[in-house]
Amino acid sequence: MSSHSQFVAVLDFGAQYGQLIARRVRELRVYSELVPGDISANELAELRPSAIILSGGPASVYAEDAPKVDPDVLGLGVPVLGFCYGHQLIASALGGTVGHTEVGEYGPAELERMGHSRLLHGTPGEQTVWMSHRDAVQQVPDGFVVTAQTPICAVAAMECDERRIYSTQFHPEVRHSRYGMHMLENFLFGVCRLEPTWTMDSIIDQKVAEIRAKVGDKKVILALSGGVDSSVVAALVHRAVGDQLTCVFVNHGMLRAGEPEMVEEVFRRQFNVPLVHVHAEGRYARLLAGVTDPEEKRRRIGSEFWKVFFEEAQKLDGVEFLAQGTIYPDVIESGARKTGGKASTIKSHHNLIPFPEGVRFDLIEPLDHFFKDEVRELGVALGLPEAMVYRQPFPGPGLAIRIIGEVTPQKLDLLRAADQVVREELDAYNERLFRQTGERNSEHTCWQYFAVLPDMRSVGVMGDERTYGRCVVVRAVESSDAMTADWAKLPYEVIGRISSRIVGEVPGVNRVAYDVTPKPPATIEWE
Ligand code: XMP
Repeated sequence: MSSHSQFVAVLDFGAQYGQLIARRVRELRVYSELVPGDISANELAELRPSAIILSGGPASVYAEDAPKVDPDVLGLGVPVLGFCYGHQLIASALGGTVGHTEVGEYGPAELERMGHSRLLHGTPGEQTVWMSHRDAVQQVPDGFVVTAQTPICAVAAMECDERRIYSTQFHPEVRHSRYGMHMLENFLFGVCRLEPTWTMDSIIDQKVAEIRAKVGDKKVILALSGGVDSSVVAALVHRAVGDQLTCVFVNHGMLRAGEPEMVEEVFRRQFNVPLVHVHAEGRYARLLAGVTDPEEKRRRIGSEFWKVFFEEAQKLDGVEFLAQGTIYPDVIESGARKTGGKASTIKSHHNLIPFPEGVRFDLIEPLDHFFKDEVRELGVALGLPEAMVYRQPFPGPGLAIRIIGEVTPQKLDLLRAADQVVREELDAYNERLFRQTGERNSEHTCWQYFAVLPDMRSVGVMGDERTYGRCVVVRAVESSDAMTADWAKLPYEVIGRISSRIVGEVPGVNRVAYDVTPKPPATIEWE
């Protein structure tokens, strides 16, 4: 953090509110990071923040175990902004009062401005904001003025311009608060006088310098999967240390059509990176023979990956560093960082490395403070093709968890061919939507789409003959974060074309079904 001259500390009081705020600040090109909500004022002062934002959170300020803010945080002389729970914390820490309201306020609310406000400056007198609260500030602390209200919430915003403390009951970080970003700009650029200098070019320069300083003339190895994160790390580390980087691409045979070729094309030919392509297809086929349990498949694929990787790594001389595509949500969710706000431990992260006996590399994790969309932006800025950078999520165990039951090379070939049809048709569908709406992620854009091969056959007829063939299920979902998803309401003609192409082009398939379950209760993947 010390390497950032401007740094906005988001004190995180839980439930992912903090992450969204940090992302919004970064969208305005100012560096921001989450810190635990219960950090002491002294510890926070050592980080030398240019501004402090207190996030929302699920607790009630008066609950016994409610996370508290060290009141001295508000006296550091650094401008403070608080949202929702943060707004209530400011009120109660500085001598105001917070109480329960008769009715909670959830969703859009009509906000009315009152008097002069630096935070709300330039936004309309009446506007829609996003509310989600039961408690409310009843009395503002001495020196504060109320700057906005809603029919239900008397203190929807307050500020003490003299002390540079501003807060809102609503959530400006949520898109439904129409002028939320404007308010954040007022705070960052008007009140704090920061500059929007955190651009992709400046980030690349800084990361390249850091990697060079750390690596010196030593060698670096990286496990390239063809996914976004490892590809961006490869491009970044290669920019920094050139041929001192070797990428090892373990081809487990469960990738989608065209992916190994793309890795070869981009890294070996376009970037000219030393690349070891390990053909482990046969090894994995033997490893998975007879295995039907989904978790066992995952476990075998995961542990074999590192075995293959380290066998290759040990063939290279003098490698001291291992570069990894760990990203910020992995760090936050792994619980590696103490989060006062318990910013959720939803997924155990996929990046723990089982080093073999006696083997140790220093880690380089240049993306460990970047959100996914920033990683993509960085990839584009580094010259990676959009098809690689904007590819849809793809699980590490690959097609193996889209084949129900035993995985065999024949089933993999069949699924790969069917999947390619689904991808071609839905890539084209998304492209048409984009041309109509001008938005890459409009409401009906398919977010993830693929084919699944269930462990069953059914009767059909082709020409004069009865067939007993395989069934392919098409899964296509709309989602923004994979936590929840809905099945995509595709036009019938699109589903129809996918179906006729699959049965026409993929030998052995005589039936196509479309999965119409949302998540929850189903998951996106079938295993
Ligand atoms: P589910 O099936 O749980 O998937 O709704 C949510 C998202 O996570 C992806 N996924 C995985 N990604 N390793 C990964 O790297 C895995 O084992 C894995 N399983 C699911 C899935 O594709 C979806 O985007």
